[in-house]
Amino acid sequence: MKKTVLSCIQPTGDMHFGNYFGAVKNWVDLQANYDCYYGVVDYHAMTMPYNPKKLKESTWALIFNLMAVGVKPENLFIQSLVPEHTELSWIFNCFASYGQVSRMTQFKDKSSQSEEKADGYISTGLFTYPVLQAADILIYRADYVPVGKDQDQHLELSRNIAQRFNNMVGKDYFVLPETLHTETPSIRSTADPTRKMSKSAGEKHYINVFAEEARMRKQIKSAVTDTGDTAQGEMSAGIENLFSLLKAAGGNEAHVSLMDDFNKGTLRYVDLKEAVADALVNISTPFREKKAELISNKKEVKNKIKASSAEIRKRAQETIREVKELSGLGNVRF
Ligand code: TRP
Repeated sequence: MKKTVLSCIQPTGDMHFGNYFGAVKNWVDLQANYDCYYGVVDYHAMTMPYNPKKLKESTWALIFNLMAVGVKPENLFIQSLVPEHTELSWIFNCFASYGQVSRMTQFKDKSSQSEEKADGYISTGLFTYPVLQAADILIYRADYVPVGKDQDQHLELSRNIAQRFNNMVGKDYFVLPETLHTETPSIRSTADPTRKMSKSAGEKHYINVFAEEARMRKQIKSAVTDTGDTAQGEMSAGIENLFSLLKAAGGNEAHVSLMDDFNKGTLRYVDLKEAVADALVNISTPFREKKAELISNKKEVKNKIKASSAEIRKRAQETIREVKELSGLGNVRF
């Protein structure tokens, strides 16, 4: 029996190489050896002020992007098409320690960001967000959750909820999920290698996986190489980032020979940049083509995802039925 992997991602705009090499590529690779569930979590995206029309658009845009880079549609679902997540989340609110939820650092970070904004609005949903996340994971009895270190606290909360529930019902009903930490490169912004590649910093700070070749080459060409504070013989953050991108994109031969040049002190930045651009264009051309094909069959693709969500929902419904019965919620079976 294959082990179960689950991960989710919030629908937010473009997919850049930081997202791809840091997380999504791993999702694609895990499909070979695990039973995978991958969710686009639109309920989670409601926890911060948002625009309904944009939410819908970015949910579907992310589905298309994920499929274009190789996530299999049968493994993909949209969270709100499996409403049992929210039902389990209510039940879990009653098995989650208030003190522990109050200590979640992601809540503290996001709520302090909101406090700085005009109306300072912080939703209760943002507070209970990790409880919904626990429901996402436990509803499928996931063994492994591939996420970054920043999610460790949420995973620990998920295990504590599972444990408390198991203790009450007197059996190991829920699997205690583990984080699957895979070595993934942390890609930096090419415009400012001191910060992570991210959308929030602005357009020039991220390279869209689906960008046209010319734009991609231009962005790499203008990548910052020297930040002025690098000692003689040491590698600057910008060069290091270009080498990481080259390796991540599978330009192994070029990586070895250019690294050799670096060590000999003969590396020409233009050569490194050209190799990086070639490698990125190389891996992303089929993605861009696949995306165009998916978009030309929009309706069909959407139906496919609705069908896979319905299929995945059956598993969630089975859990909910059992959980309600075990929790003493009446009238499950008439
Ligand atoms: N909290 C995760 C993030 O910020 C997203 C997420 C929601 C998630 N539900 C999940 C991740 C379940 C893994 C499993 O990235």
